[in-house]
Amino acid sequence: MSETPDIKKGLVGVYADESSISKVMPETNSLTYRGYAVQDLCENASFDETAYLLWNGELPSQAQLAAFQAEEKANRALSPALLRVLREFPRDAHPMDAIRTAVSFMGMEDPETADISDAAQRRKAMRLLAKIPAAVAASNRLSKGLEPIAPDASLSFGANFFHMVFGKVPQPEVLKAFDVSMILYAEHTFNASTFTARTICSTMADMHGAITGAIAALKGPLHGGANEAVMHMLKEIPSPDVAEAWLRERFDHKALVMGFGHRVYKTGDSRVPTMKKYAEIMAEVVGDKRWMNTSAVLARVMLAEKKIHPNLDFPAGPAYYLMGFDIPLFTPIFVCSRITGWAAHVLEQAADNRLIRPLSFYTGLEQRPVVPLAQRG
Ligand code: COA
Repeated sequence: MSETPDIKKGLVGVYADESSISKVMPETNSLTYRGYAVQDLCENASFDETAYLLWNGELPSQAQLAAFQAEEKANRALSPALLRVLREFPRDAHPMDAIRTAVSFMGMEDPETADISDAAQRRKAMRLLAKIPAAVAASNRLSKGLEPIAPDASLSFGANFFHMVFGKVPQPEVLKAFDVSMILYAEHTFNASTFTARTICSTMADMHGAITGAIAALKGPLHGGANEAVMHMLKEIPSPDVAEAWLRERFDHKALVMGFGHRVYKTGDSRVPTMKKYAEIMAEVVGDKRWMNTSAVLARVMLAEKKIHPNLDFPAGPAYYLMGFDIPLFTPIFVCSRITGWAAHVLEQAADNRLIRPLSFYTGLEQRPVVPLAQRG
């Protein structure tokens, strides 16, 4: 019998590779993308600039940004074939399943699917960045019996998304809050979906395959699905003044409180203060403080009783709700942003690839002979 090796369940504390894309510093609650603090990017740059930064290592010049935005705008339209496929999806399909399937379909019709050269992978990443919001918006409208709205190349990335979902563009404060959420969701080191994308890429599979797998991983409530779960939870609580009692009852049942806790940050998620600030701006704009007031009670009691801090999904959930999005759309919106981080990791993995293939320590039965079916009765 061999000795049990030191198994890191959930790969806790394991460094699986090097990366120069982002850095989480739990000791100071900070997160940088290519050396820039996310808060700094939120206040002094846009999501487009952040996407460029993640893929190219540096912030763009004005000319580089203009070219990047022009390419994104030129690639937004969905093919007639994909639009037909979206119409066939079950009305009650979860939007994450819809976008996962749509991205997989995009892979089948992309002219460069099989070309995994760096240049082709970058072009495919751009097409995904441009088309994913259109597919998310179209499937959301179709699920409600509404016609999809074609993208508008005269609008910015965020404004175009609101246009495709609602048929109108909101006021600048809302667009800014949305843009900030996109920057904060863009990248976060070796989380489960990113590691999935890198694992798929490590087999020399293509960009669309890696992103399809990443979307499947992101759907789970322990990962991206938490922003939806947070809003369902907030809606379950009738008012802020009963929030503490509601939470204490949850403690009695040892139930998870969604939007709290993090594998890496144990003393606070660096992205929370910025997202909370913009969720509060949303509450002001809409004139509805209920969700943020309830959130404040939950955060206070969780910290006092459990020493557990909120994660990004906690303020992002109510922010998206206040923007008017349907709750099942929250995680697909996360996809619209995280495609940037996933693609950056696919490019990085491919540039210095080694097949990702860990070991498992076998705990099953010892080797035994097969008893032929006739003798098994
Ligand atoms: N609600 C209640 N208790 C929680 C909690 C939460 N959200 N998050 C962690 N805990 C508790 C655990 O039950 C555990 O308690 P125990 O030691 O008595 O068993 C302790 O805190 C340590 O948590 P652990 O599960 O070891 O942390 P992890 O690193 O494995 O898990 C998460 C991290 C994110 C999966 C976990 O915190 C969680 O499930 N959070 C809710 C879902 C969520 O918001 N996900 C989004 C992540 S960005």
